[in-house]
Amino acid sequence: MKVGKKYYRTIWEDENNPGTIQIIDQRWLPHKFIIENLTTVDGIVDSIREMHVRGAPLIGITAAYGVYLSKKEKKRNGLGINFIFESADKLKSTRPTAKNLFWAIDEILSSINNNDNIDNIIQILQTKTQDMADKDVADCRTIGEHGFKIINDISNSKSPEQVNILTHCNAGWLATVDYGTALAPIYVAHEKGIKLHVWVDETRPRNQGAKLTAWELAEQGIPHTVIVDNAGGHIMQKGMVDLVIVGSDRTAPNGDVANKIGTYLKALSAYDNNIPFYVALPSSTIDWEIETGEDIPIEERNPDEVIFVDGLYNNEVVSILVPPEQSPALNYAFDVTPANLVTGLITERGICKATKECIAELFPDKIKK
Ligand code: MRU
Repeated sequence: MKVGKKYYRTIWEDENNPGTIQIIDQRWLPHKFIIENLTTVDGIVDSIREMHVRGAPLIGITAAYGVYLSKKEKKRNGLGINFIFESADKLKSTRPTAKNLFWAIDEILSSINNNDNIDNIIQILQTKTQDMADKDVADCRTIGEHGFKIINDISNSKSPEQVNILTHCNAGWLATVDYGTALAPIYVAHEKGIKLHVWVDETRPRNQGAKLTAWELAEQGIPHTVIVDNAGGHIMQKGMVDLVIVGSDRTAPNGDVANKIGTYLKALSAYDNNIPFYVALPSSTIDWEIETGEDIPIEERNPDEVIFVDGLYNNEVVSILVPPEQSPALNYAFDVTPANLVTGLITERGICKATKECIAELFPDKIKK
């Protein structure tokens, strides 16, 4: 998407310096736009763990670039044969919930096959990472086209009034290589001239909504309002929300959805107020090996993210302590919304109900026989 007048993806290889991966360091948004260069696996591992990049699809593609860099590093430093597999394990240990991380690493490793010429392997990995990044962009754009129909139907039913959509966390282009998942239908609808407005949950503790989603929407000129996480139920009761769209970090084949902590509460409110609640995701987010959401590992992060809040003060990004210093805090990063609260899943293959049968019908090739 465009930042100012320039088109960016969230991750790319520097065309003048092959082996240098460039990312937008999201820790500084919306206050500073900083591009970071990564040339080693350890740099990639840190960038995922410390959330310079985040969002399930982007975590996956970044890890794939990590595997590619590990092979370059092996050649450069004459490292042992196992370096690439040790690197893959390290990358897999960064964040436990996003299925895309594990999917992308396995996918890229499988492209090597039995090839043992290092220059060939580097070439294969470079092409494969680029292909995976391009596919992520194409899938997100298609998710946008499918999801657009839902927004368009609501718009037709209440025209000339605007469609009010609530979203949680950031499932926009910053969470993917481009376009996003939950925000993709919103971008398509905006492009097609639909009158809409987005309620942006701030999304404590890290405020991905207030920082990243609000920044994305502001950059694209899309009307939006930031609300505290606790406001969702109230504005739904007041008829101020027509539709909820969120992303997912891991979805079970029965339709249970793991997403940013607090998503479940929004789904409960939406259900109680008869508001459609959709989840937008590429199929790389579906974990075909598990049965239900109960099998999804939930990341627990540093409690400092709960007790400190950061923002701009006197032109500097500063961090401040909120509760008493001695109060313990607990920081679950995700929760699971049960399938019965989900109206539908918007995927690159189309929209389906969040049920085992409908998901299997859309993805017959993925179902274990
Ligand atoms: O902890 P984060 O910022 O990586 O969590 C991101 C989310 O929960 C998104 O909503 C999810 O990855 C879907 S993004 C396309």
